[in-house]
Amino acid sequence: MADLSLNVNGMKFANPFVIGSGPPGTNYRTIAKSFACGWGGVVAKTVALDDTPVCNVAPRYGKWRMKAWEQRKGNANVIGFQNIELISDRGLSDWIPDFQRSKDDYPDGVLIASLMESYHKDRWQELVQRSDEAGVDAFELNFSCPHGHPETNMGAAMGQNPAMVEEVTRWCVEATDKPVWSKMTPNVTDITLPARAAIAGGAHGVSAINTILAVIGVNLDTLRPMPTVQGYSTPGGYSYYAVKPIALRMVAEMILDNPELTVSGIGGVGDADDAIEFMLLGARTVQVCTGVMLQGHKMVQKLIDGTAEFMDRHGFNSVDEFIGTSLPYFTTHHDLVDRQIAAKAEKAGQKKRDMEWSENISQETDNLTTN
Ligand SMILES: Cc1cc2nc3c(=O)[nH]c(=O)nc-3n(C[C@H](O)[C@H](O)[C@H](O)COP(=O)(O)O)c2cc1C
Repeated sequence: MADLSLNVNGMKFANPFVIGSGPPGTNYRTIAKSFACGWGGVVAKTVALDDTPVCNVAPRYGKWRMKAWEQRKGNANVIGFQNIELISDRGLSDWIPDFQRSKDDYPDGVLIASLMESYHKDRWQELVQRSDEAGVDAFELNFSCPHGHPETNMGAAMGQNPAMVEEVTRWCVEATDKPVWSKMTPNVTDITLPARAAIAGGAHGVSAINTILAVIGVNLDTLRPMPTVQGYSTPGGYSYYAVKPIALRMVAEMILDNPELTVSGIGGVGDADDAIEFMLLGARTVQVCTGVMLQGHKMVQKLIDGTAEFMDRHGFNSVDEFIGTSLPYFTTHHDLVDRQIAAKAEKAGQKKRDMEWSENISQETDNLTTN
């Protein structure tokens, strides 16, 4: 079977598939389950210091289903998913033993702590240093949660401000020798700007995308927007299949802007084909969050088998051989027009040359017959 292992920022991943920060990596039990099922890495649910208030509501999820598929059972017809879930409601002190136990039990699995704090250097550095001491392999800085926290200048509020992304990234990089990825929000006009800022701040890579700010729908019986909490709602983060085209575009934009950028691609991965597409556009690892929530942790086997089959079919011996293969084929719309005109001209020229050739041949044949 094809070898799916790879090295990213000095970390050895058994395969490029990583649990994205969220419910699938929300405590020791789910992290252990992820590694036992074969995930190459886990980004744990985002954690803050103990005194950061986190108060979740219920319901906090909404699903968008394909109407034509409504007869299908369970989650098979879900194409878009919205959440208004906050970061972990367990503070860092609760997380430290989970980090330690996960590394003790699964030393080869890459464990990445996802961190979020308010705009204070000492708070970010404390989060980094204490998680570092607990043995995590790397850090993902959550500059991207689109709901709840931005109101207190956390999450996407920071991610939408490149100067803050650079400064906070620098604080965190200063506090550890381990790799730091900054997680980008898609709720910006140009994602290359915060990505550049993260690298300027010393980040080893970026993760993208977090969820897209959205309203999943309106209940036609109650006439209330969803998900509805005590009759009211608030825009939340959109994920799963429906966001993949936007995520692919943003990953490509960042890597075209900076070909050396290490990107962990995220957004709408439900099977191996989706994951391979991210890698073809240059992502070195691929994270999955909603897919795991709806299909279960064992879905990683589908990703592994499908990618191995793809590699065998194309004759790739390692994932490094195909990462970024499709990127050179992006160009401007003007260039597409020029290429089309050139191709038509070439085709017309060939046709003319073919006609001239067959006319010459018939002339020569006529001459031969006459002589
Ligand atoms: C219920 C839920 C909770 C999430 N919580 C977090 C979080 O705590 N930190 C974070 O960085 N991203 C969080 N995310 C975002 C995911 O990690 C991911 O970036 C996004 O959902 C897109 O990927 P997907 O389509 O595979 O879910 C959450 C997503 C969902 C659906």
